Amino acid sequence: MALLSFTDGTRVDDPQEIRKTLSGIGVCLERWPIPDNPDLKALLALDRPVPEESERLLGFFESRFETLKATLGYQSRDLISLSPGLPGLDGLLGRFKDCHTHDDDEIRYVVEGAGIFGFVLPDKDQVELLVLPGDYINVPRGAEHWFRLTTDRHIKAIRYFTSREGWVPVYTGTPVHPFGEISRA
Ligand SMILES: [Fe+2]
Repeated sequence: MALLSFTDGTRVDDPQEIRKTLSGIGVCLERWPIPDNPDLKALLALDRPVPEESERLLGFFESRFETLKATLGYQSRDLISLSPGLPGLDGLLGRFKDCHTHDDDEIRYVVEGAGIFGFVLPDKDQVELLVLPGDYINVPRGAEHWFRLTTDRHIKAIRYFTSREGWVPVYTGTPVHPFGEISRA
């Protein structure tokens, strides 16, 4: 379950409270439970799944994708799998650690590991949201945000796209508040 951190050190794990805070910038957060299946569990445990394994993993969540296609017009999905040994990981993370926007929605469904989204609120205060397996998040186009990993640098998430072009970061130059280490423990 997600955890929201404020700049004054306050942390909130009540889903209603989190949704209320994030609704001001149009962010949608939902819980989609991960199916309890031994084959899926084995795939989720792979550090670096090959494309065939990623496709099998995505197959467990295909009904979600079909719903998103029908209701919101998403065209494609893939699996992003980040772990400490991944070549180019620092460069990849470096693209998203600063405040930016996109011309399209950024949609992620975390299926393993953890990630941290930061947001600039309408009053210019900032928050960070720890997302964990089962958290589905939609960051709307134009919402100022950033992304980083927790200290163990491990996440698998399904990305949903309407197009690939809208997903490049547009940097805003807003300094990011130093929130420090965040974990669910
Ligand atoms: Fe982004």
